[in-house]
Amino acid sequence: MAITTPQLHRYEEVAEQLMKLIQSGHYKANEKIPGTRLLAEHYNVSVNTILQAQKLLENQGLIEAVPRSGFFVKWRSTPAQELVKSQPKTSLKPTLIQRQRLALDLIQSTGSKKLIQLGAALPHESYFPAQALHRIAAKVARTQANGLLRYEVPPGLPSLCQALAHRMTGYGCDVDASDVLITNGCHESLSIALKCVADPGDVVLLESPTYYGLLQAVDTLGLRAIEIPCHPESGIDLKKVNDACQKWDVKACIVVSNFSNPLGSCPSTDEKQHLLSLLQKHNVPLVEDDIYGDLAFDGHRPSPYKSFDTTGEVLYCNSFSKSVSPGLRVGWLSPGRYIEKASYLKFTQNIASSSLNQMMLDEYLRNGNMDKHIRKIRRHYAANISQCIDLIKSNFPDGTRTSQPRGGFVLWIQLPEKFDTTVLYKNALEHKISIAPGFLFSSDQRFKNYFRINCALPWETMLEPAIRLLGKILS
Ligand SMILES: Cc1ncc(COP(=O)(O)O)c(C=O)c1O
Repeated sequence: MAITTPQLHRYEEVAEQLMKLIQSGHYKANEKIPGTRLLAEHYNVSVNTILQAQKLLENQGLIEAVPRSGFFVKWRSTPAQELVKSQPKTSLKPTLIQRQRLALDLIQSTGSKKLIQLGAALPHESYFPAQALHRIAAKVARTQANGLLRYEVPPGLPSLCQALAHRMTGYGCDVDASDVLITNGCHESLSIALKCVADPGDVVLLESPTYYGLLQAVDTLGLRAIEIPCHPESGIDLKKVNDACQKWDVKACIVVSNFSNPLGSCPSTDEKQHLLSLLQKHNVPLVEDDIYGDLAFDGHRPSPYKSFDTTGEVLYCNSFSKSVSPGLRVGWLSPGRYIEKASYLKFTQNIASSSLNQMMLDEYLRNGNMDKHIRKIRRHYAANISQCIDLIKSNFPDGTRTSQPRGGFVLWIQLPEKFDTTVLYKNALEHKISIAPGFLFSSDQRFKNYFRINCALPWETMLEPAIRLLGKILS
């Protein structure tokens, strides 16, 4: 199956070029961008195309219209810089992880129709391709009834392994179907990857703050974690990684590579290569979670670490839980030189992943218009994130800071020191809003005045009223 490169409309291409000029600082914050006619001439397109591009950039929070004056640059990276200056310190010592029970409450509450779910990083059901999946479920049940009755034993449905390998080739990875193992979602990929490289008691490096599912995986596997500080843009602190590897017998480094959860960081190609060569020097495998990689707001999918792997020491984990369906529970692992061990672990853990769900995803990847769907949702997420940042600025206490992600759909919020987001969590629940309090994202109380919100919710009916209400609760 050939990877289809999403066909961009001309106005999207123009918007992307303007976005690059803004993000590279060519057009600076508060500066006016050239007028509509000038841009139309410059890009050799119609005025209408420029109007559509401007609308797109406005929705993404990059520019804003000033009546009778034109469009001005709104995007600035300052909040992320401020966020990093004030990050709490880590001890750089291995610790056991505890107190993650609240994460289960958060997930359990996602079933409640009464709550506005800012807590779990789970898109609202209107952002999933429900109709296509319903059609595909019926088709698979009708045409492949016999296949549904047997195990799809590891590595999994061969045609799906092949489709996923092709997808990864499109990300620049040198893999084929024999390098892919189907799992029950990215979380299972992560836990199998960790079991491949570390035994109970071993030391692993985690980003800080990190996705709480990783803290739970580390906890249940009896590993000890060293939490390495992260920059909201460039990700894990390379110097601290080096220090930790020199001091401890580190068995793995785990990163959410592109638009991380909760910070939204996305290291550059150079930074990724730098981390890999550093880990290679210390013989430390990298466990890479790339679950948000397809959700770049500018449409340019960042390269995964796996695409720079020359030694087979990158264990790549992913799923379609953030874009197609978390309920299908289909993910995959491309664990480099650990493929045999990983397949055996998957087999001993739960024999196989659901045959029906693998077939559905396989069919969806081939005939479900996946790229068009992803293009659509990432535009919604970009607009939601930008509107949330604006509303937080005007409704939250002075001194509040937010991350400035360029992809994904979560926002990391820092309140002034005096706030405790565990208290906010409880108060918000009374008003039927869930949030993810900061303590879930590390092994200690370091992020007491931080919290994460899920911005993949409809703006008018959920996000906007919930953020206004949180503002009121905080004041
Ligand atoms: C960074 C990250 N990795 C993994 C997962 C879990 O993915 P899955 O539902 O595919 O197991 C999540 C879900 O929130 C996540 O945010």
